[in-house]
Amino acid sequence: MTAAAWPALEGLVYGGDYNPEQWPREVWDEDVALMREAGVNLVSVGIFSWAMLEPKEGLYDFAWMDDLLDLLHANGIAADLGTPSVSPPAWFFAAYPDARVTDKDGRVMGFGSRGMASHASAPYREAIARMATELAKRYASHPAVVLWHVHNEYGVPVAEDFGPAAVASWRRWLQERYETLEALNAAWGTAFWGQRYDDWEHVVAPAATPTIVNPAMKLDWARFTDDQLRECFRIERDAIRAHATQPITTNFMAHQSWNTDLWKWAQEVDVVADDHYLWSPDEDAHVGLALSADLTRSVGGGAPWMLMEHSTSAVNWQGHNTAKRPGEMRRNAITHLGRGADAIMFFQWRASRSGAEKFHSAMVPHAGTQSRVFREVVQLGAHLKDLAEVQGSRVEAEVAVLYDWESLWAHDLEWRPSDDMQFRERMRAFYERLWRDNVTVDFAHPEHDLSRYKLVVAPSSYLLTASAGENLTRYVERGGTLLVGAFSGIVDENDAVHAGGFGAPLKDALGLTVEEFLPLREGRAMEIAYGDAALSADVWAEDIGLTGAEVRGTFVGGPGDGLPAITRHQRGEGTGWYVGTRLSADALAAVTADVYADAGITPPSFPAGVEVISRRGDAQDFVIAVNHGDDDVELEITGADLLTGAEIEGTLELAGGGVAVVRTASARQGGGQ
Ligand code: GLA
Repeated sequence: MTAAAWPALEGLVYGGDYNPEQWPREVWDEDVALMREAGVNLVSVGIFSWAMLEPKEGLYDFAWMDDLLDLLHANGIAADLGTPSVSPPAWFFAAYPDARVTDKDGRVMGFGSRGMASHASAPYREAIARMATELAKRYASHPAVVLWHVHNEYGVPVAEDFGPAAVASWRRWLQERYETLEALNAAWGTAFWGQRYDDWEHVVAPAATPTIVNPAMKLDWARFTDDQLRECFRIERDAIRAHATQPITTNFMAHQSWNTDLWKWAQEVDVVADDHYLWSPDEDAHVGLALSADLTRSVGGGAPWMLMEHSTSAVNWQGHNTAKRPGEMRRNAITHLGRGADAIMFFQWRASRSGAEKFHSAMVPHAGTQSRVFREVVQLGAHLKDLAEVQGSRVEAEVAVLYDWESLWAHDLEWRPSDDMQFRERMRAFYERLWRDNVTVDFAHPEHDLSRYKLVVAPSSYLLTASAGENLTRYVERGGTLLVGAFSGIVDENDAVHAGGFGAPLKDALGLTVEEFLPLREGRAMEIAYGDAALSADVWAEDIGLTGAEVRGTFVGGPGDGLPAITRHQRGEGTGWYVGTRLSADALAAVTADVYADAGITPPSFPAGVEVISRRGDAQDFVIAVNHGDDDVELEITGADLLTGAEIEGTLELAGGGVAVVRTASARQGGGQ
């Protein structure tokens, strides 16, 4: 059957995970009444309900789900119907003990948690197909069901499985990829340490070994693991699609996801959905939130997406679970919206009294409705109603940041020149610089067509294929500006060092290769002389071999003392910049100012801590402003404030901690701010 288009609902979506099976039936009536009060129009149900839906193998009990969906529908609330494959029941593991996950050290994961099934297990795959089929047959035409939510956060809590079924799949996967052992031996460089294979049956999983495992093998293992997860998604999706037309999604975890290559996953879903939780140790966690939102939008090609889960206040699974302060949830939600989300949802509707997540915040907290959190939940619901016209508008960016999960996997392997040179840290530092400069970005894969961007930033592209290198070189030659961070262009798709020196695929674009890495001892720092400025840097120096680039910054102190650190190269119509060290978001400012000038970008200026994003609609634009600071500020803008109804004639007063969404004239039609 063909999928109906998302969105299926008019206006913005508001709601959360709803787990009513944890509550007596009378609470459900109170729930739907409160949902109406809060303006909730979509809830995700059934995600963990397998044991309730199929209490014994082949014995289904859908009566309670019928009742629930009818109740929701009668109250004008739509359902995002989950498939419960993340949590098979106790009977399943008793009947199919081999379906349990085996970890790297050979330990078999027991029952009593969630996410315990081996994605390679044939009985598991059959069981999830059956369950998805039963659900689809029963609810294909239920009027409450507008969306399917397959599984939950693929890859957590476990992605890798080292059990016999997984190893057998792994061998099949390798045979398909390489066809011959000769090709596998070549790709993995098995001549090193005498790892050559002469029989497919001898190829094992990269489990516990005396010292580090062949890195190319581990990189393939990451690809295989991701493919396995995606195969399981397809099994369920296709089972649903055979009987039902509602769109199908699953919830991603953007920058927090390690095991799933979301460029590939986004191709499989009808609408991109993401979960995001603030990271408590991060004082500027709202910057990480923005990164995650931009990445989510980008993997979906810019289409409006769903924030499937975030939290009303604290989570429960970090070391120090900080509560959101008044107004913070609203700022978080509106930032997601500003960066392209047309659905704002939470984990979860009502706080659980029992179980592992009883200290996780919810839309209805343990304190009940006479609480700050519930009042803010109701307020946010009212806001989203007022913002209905934002639905469908899009974020546009002049800058792309390169993000590649394969590079993350390869970069995170062991025995790198410095443990302190980290993919995620570099991504965040460069992103934070752009965020603070109010430069809206898309994320892109290094092999994408980048021609529409004025600037492409590659904070950390350790793995860069030769064709990606050609793509970036073409981009520069045709007039683009490229900014590349250190430890980029080092290995190919097999984690083998490129011939021609470190960074060889970018040699033409950057006018250099790197002769030798000169990482610093832990805790040491140095400076970079950049024009008149002395930028503090740490972790990484290197010995650059110039092949045409001009030196713009030089190492002062440290192992690279006196050597080039930052370069600029003109190639064809464009420019390639290179930063051969680790600079913080602060220190990057001096460099990016020059890079923007080359790219013809003039970042707008707003008071510090104020985040301003635009969404473009067909006939008008929307400016979304979020004040992360405590001070009241003024922004120059003209338009209609959709939350207060006020007409803004040139100056918007934005309170400390406040948010605003202003409808402005369309920039496309020559008006705008
Ligand atoms: C994840 C899961 C939810 C819940 C939340 C808690 O996002 O999908 O089921 O466990 O975390 O933050």
